[in-house]
Amino acid sequence: MGDVRRYLRVMKAWKNVGVVGAGTMGSGIAQIAAQAGCDVILVDASSDALTRSEANLAKVFQRLVEKGRVSSEDAHAVQGRIRRSTQVQELSECDVVVEAIVEDLGVKSNLFQTLETVVSHDAVLATNTSSLSVTALARACEHPSRVVGLHFFNPAPLMALVEVVPALQTQPELADHAMAQMQAWGKAPALAKDTPGFIVNRVARPFYSEALRILEEGVASVADIDASMRAKGFRMGPFELMDLIGHDVNYAVTSTVHDSFYGDPKYRPAHTQRQLVAAHWLGRKTGQGFYTYVDGVKQGDPGVAVEGVAERVLAMLMNEAADAVFWQVASPEHIDVAMQKGVNYPKGLLAWADEWGVGELINILDALRQRYGEERYRVSPLLRDMARQGRSFFG
Ligand code: NAI
Repeated sequence: MGDVRRYLRVMKAWKNVGVVGAGTMGSGIAQIAAQAGCDVILVDASSDALTRSEANLAKVFQRLVEKGRVSSEDAHAVQGRIRRSTQVQELSECDVVVEAIVEDLGVKSNLFQTLETVVSHDAVLATNTSSLSVTALARACEHPSRVVGLHFFNPAPLMALVEVVPALQTQPELADHAMAQMQAWGKAPALAKDTPGFIVNRVARPFYSEALRILEEGVASVADIDASMRAKGFRMGPFELMDLIGHDVNYAVTSTVHDSFYGDPKYRPAHTQRQLVAAHWLGRKTGQGFYTYVDGVKQGDPGVAVEGVAERVLAMLMNEAADAVFWQVASPEHIDVAMQKGVNYPKGLLAWADEWGVGELINILDALRQRYGEERYRVSPLLRDMARQGRSFFG
């Protein structure tokens, strides 16, 4: 461990990049690294996955060339920088290896143990996990100080955010280095503590859960709640977005976050969504979710904005963002970047809270708490402190 620390202290730019897992995420990460000028080796246990990944990338670049966004020389050069293999041994020269294989701690741990026998002492091992503890994964390694989370968002080449997540064991310099490398790859990195959901999957929970509560109470319809959020600048309302993500996936993320916080009622999943999963109405991909889809096109009228609906959802989002600051998950700057660059929010939630004023935000939350008497509406202690001290997030 001492040796590794010394080696890593002189951290080199990532030039030779390994990616394991050539599915949706791994293929995207390989493309990003190759576009940044790195030499990439993409490894997958399945040669079919590698073939599919190569064909998909060729299609992506063909389209980019047709649209005049990339020259055919550059397209050729980028694709030429990605080699593909079914053998992890090919990764021996890599400065960093990013894994994007199945979301299973045991399988990922085995891979990291194998990788440690292949790569050099100073190579960094990164994980794209969205729900596992980076710390638990680092524990599998002989040299856990070289492990870091690099959480990309789907579709990775288009979404700028990367959550950089140091494990408890990660040497501090590596977190800074990873932030700088992600910037060099053209990404917008946000530093997040290794806590359930990191930034985005935690802070975004109320976008879905509060909308579901409003629906279950009969305050407004699916289409009207979606319209209310779109009127505030969100590209999609919560129900359209859940239909797109898939209720199996969205419900699983909510359940994982809820379990990881030992059942904190703030994160409790909604019965309505469980029913959709039970019915296998998974959203767009099955043709039926909150909406019906015919040939992938959403049916029904677009809805109208209902007064008070967006404010209630936004207040819960802002409260969650403030609480993430309070619990040291990330800085206000990084939380605002994360929500804009990872899930396309029209504004940073905390900058938005500053516009409303902390007092106004607390009034809405207190009114909800009083009406429902539920713990989920508790105001973050940080907001109370700020109100007392007359502070704002960025003032
Ligand atoms: P995927 O199912 O599309 O691809 C996984 C690939 O890994 C497959 O091609 C499979 O053959 C390969 N693979 C599995 N085990 C392997 C092993 N032991 N060695 C080599 N290759 C192996 O999965 P996807 O969606 O790309 O997700 C990958 C990771 O990224 C997961 O950890 C997931 O949680 C995370 N993630 C996924 C996001 C998404 O929206 N899909 C977003 C952010 C993170």
